[in-house]
Formats: sequence, C-alpha cells, structure tokens
Amino acid sequence: MTDATYHLNGGFKPTTKRFADLEGPDFFPTPAWATHALIDNEAFEGEIWESACGNGAMSKVLETVSRTVISSDLYDRGYGDVGIDFLDSHRSVENIVTNPPYNAAEGFVRSGVSLAKRKFALLLRLAFLEGANRARTIFSEHPPSRVWVFSERITFYPAGVSQQGSGTTAYAWFVWDRAAPSRTELKWLKPGYKGRYS
Ligand SMILES: C[S@@+](CC[C@H](N)C(=O)[O-])C[C@H]1O[C@@H](n2cnc3c(N)ncnc32)[C@H](O)[C@@H]1O
Repeated sequence: MTDATYHLNGGFKPTTKRFADLEGPDFFPTPAWATHALIDNEAFEGEIWESACGNGAMSKVLETVSRTVISSDLYDRGYGDVGIDFLDSHRSVENIVTNPPYNAAEGFVRSGVSLAKRKFALLLRLAFLEGANRARTIFSEHPPSRVWVFSERITFYPAGVSQQGSGTTAYAWFVWDRAAPSRTELKWLKPGYKGRYS
C-alpha cells in the first residue's frame, strides 16, 4: 500500500508503515529474521510466553531455542490460545517475548515488567524511546536493561499480503532483564540478519 501523505526529502515515498496501528487490533506478523536477531543476542532460560502471538510467526522461531513456548492472543489468528488479554493477565512466567499492538505498547510494558520473572523483550519502534510522557512514567520507573537497535529496517505487512520493498521505520528490541543492573545499555544488531534468515 502506498501512503501518499508520506514525504521524505520532499518526494513521495512508498511506505511500509504499519498503517493500521493507530486503530484496531493491529495484526502484523514479524518476519522471522527479526526474531532470530533477538535470540542470537539474548539467552532465555526457561519458558517463553509469546503473549500476542498472531499467526505464530514469532513463536515458531522462539520454539527453536526453548522447549516450552506458550502462545496466546486476544484474537483468533489460527495459533495458540485465544481470548487471552495480556493487559489483564496475572500469569507469571520466566520470560515474555512479543511484538505488541503498537497502540497498546505502554500497557504491554506495564504488564510485562510485572509478569516476567527473568526477561521481557518487546519489539517496538525505535521512536518509542521518545516522548515526555514515557520519560516521566515507563522510562523513569522501568528503564529497559538493553535496547538493541536494528541496523536493517523491518518491513511489516498484514498477514497474507505479499512483501515488496524495504521498510521506512526503525525498530529495536527493548529488553527488561531482572538480572541486569538498573541502567540502560544501548546496543546495535549487526547487519546481515535479513539476508540470512529471510
Ligand atoms: C503486531 S501483531 C504481532 C503478532 C505476533 N506477535 C508477531 O510478532 O508475529 C500484534 C498482535 O497482538 C494481538 N493483540 C492485540 N491486543 C492484544 C491484547 N490486549 N492481548 C493479547 N494480544 C493482543 C493482535 O491480535 C495481534 O495478533
């Protein structure tokens, strides 16, 4: 889809922005390589809960490193347990990893930091770091332990739509690790994941 309102350097640009993410349930499967970038750099001990699993795109990669991957979603996307609202959950597990609906990202941070006993990892826009409100709340109360910045852009498409072009939005893995000191480390993911795991 082309968003004609999007300009860069004065010209029209095709955009692969997640164009539905300001409303609705926001279903955009994560390309496998973006999850590989996380598990290559962060070790997970024990079970992992993919708490907004969609069609299992991320769960299937997580299953390569953990024998126990719990998958659930609020909506029926054909994978995992259905009807589980992460924002209203009290299930405490070792690790939680997901790409949340962007319009509920703050709520996912709040639930995740209280429910994960070891690590909580969220795939978010890099721009999530900005904003006075988040600076006053999330980032002063619960600063992430590590922020892994993607050096390659991720292209998100709704499930079933064929992929073309490259992304225009920068993403990062935000990791809260109970075993790490309470300061944020900024790290960069090496280029090459996109080609290696696509
Ligand atoms: C951007 S998609 C990502 C899907 C999957 N995590 C992936 O990375 O491929 C976000 C998912 O969050 C689900 N979702 C929305 N609100 C939710 C909630 N409150 N609790 C659990 N899942 C939710 C949507 O149904 C959708 O499948």
